[in-house]
Amino acid sequence: MTTQGNNLDRWYDSYAARTAGLAASEVRALFAVASRPEVVSLAGGMPFVSALPRDLITGAMDRVMRDNGPAALQYGSGQGVPALREHILEVMALEGIRGSVDDVVVTTGSQHALELVSKIFLDPGDVVLAEGPSYVTAMVVFKSFQASVEHVLTDENGLVPEALRERIQNLKAAGKRIKFLYTVPTFSNPSGVTLSWERRLEVLEICRSNDILVLEDNPYGLLYFDAPPPRAMRSVEEEGVIYLGTFSKTLAPGFRVGWALAPHAIREKLILANEAAVLSPSSFTQMIISEYLSTADWKGQIDIFRGVYRDRRDAMLLALHDYLPDLSWTVPNGGFYVWLKLPDNIDSKSMLPRAVKELVAYTPGTAFYADGGGRNFMRLAFCYPTPEFIREGIRRLSTVINGELELLNTFSLTGPLETVRPELNNISPPANLG
Ligand SMILES: Cc1ncc(COP(=O)(O)O)c(C=O)c1O
Repeated sequence: MTTQGNNLDRWYDSYAARTAGLAASEVRALFAVASRPEVVSLAGGMPFVSALPRDLITGAMDRVMRDNGPAALQYGSGQGVPALREHILEVMALEGIRGSVDDVVVTTGSQHALELVSKIFLDPGDVVLAEGPSYVTAMVVFKSFQASVEHVLTDENGLVPEALRERIQNLKAAGKRIKFLYTVPTFSNPSGVTLSWERRLEVLEICRSNDILVLEDNPYGLLYFDAPPPRAMRSVEEEGVIYLGTFSKTLAPGFRVGWALAPHAIREKLILANEAAVLSPSSFTQMIISEYLSTADWKGQIDIFRGVYRDRRDAMLLALHDYLPDLSWTVPNGGFYVWLKLPDNIDSKSMLPRAVKELVAYTPGTAFYADGGGRNFMRLAFCYPTPEFIREGIRRLSTVINGELELLNTFSLTGPLETVRPELNNISPPANLG
């Protein structure tokens, strides 16, 4: 068969069916504009890496190259550098997790761990349960393996166990195969909410009794602002949980080092999948991180990050209170995000071009639902701009929202305004979304 393609892409007809979900986001172009310095971007989940003293990293790099250069420049093990895996156990111990170095698999960021877990578990048509709303780029991965994402209701305490129970029952009754529950239980991306301790136990029990694996993704757990969050779900349950961690938010994402802690049998498959994908994760960056963790006050550095993000969270909450007092939002005790609820008739995606024109950007709520939900929500990231910029950004946002409301009210006098554009509902993440 010869391929026909189209004017834009000669190979259009040749792509695998699984790439259908990888369509470029129509908000990507807007995000490119939003990266201009005059725009306050509350869109991307980029950590504020400038709060990390650079000499800590250059020092670690120098020592690695001086003492261990050839090993750092060589291929390594598909499971990761053993010394780093030991350190990863120390990091996870802070969240109550006990494990064996044998069960840690280092990956190219936790994003890659999501890919590997999907690769070994998902067949076309399988179901992944996920919070509604859920991390956009995880859903992109699940969909790229032709799985369907089914959301479970959440509230200010995270997943609602009763809703989970019901969802599982209904899906099973419909003959669906549920492969795992994907959850970001602590300082969720995008909503900032945290699953309470009681609910953690209940969710684990529901999954255990239904033979559903839990995929616990925890990039933000150590970045708490007030009291520490409840212990990780993996601290309670070893056999039924794959835990994902990363150095992206507590150190820097440029290293691209994350990890999975998995039950023994799954770990074996993950290593094989890792080798098939990258041979071995970068020895160079793993060894630098290992050296950093051996010599620097890394817990003190995490405290510094906490302080930075706490100030920014406070600035965002105060500005919301001052400029948008009639709306409601989540109050995160850690992490990077606030989830803002807009009046029912506002569509945050169709409002985005206006916002960017007014020099403020956010991520529309629909990005975080696989089913077109979240239209009147938006994710606001407070991690990157300074507190002053955050305040200015929220001020600009309030102008945009109030303008949109006025417009809608004007049109509602003459007839309903079409605010839903279903063809735009299936977006993939813009670059640097985090
Ligand atoms: C919930 C969640 N999981 C995974 C990732 C990917 O992180 P990494 O940089 O480790 O690939 C992110 C990044 O923002 C995230 O928010």
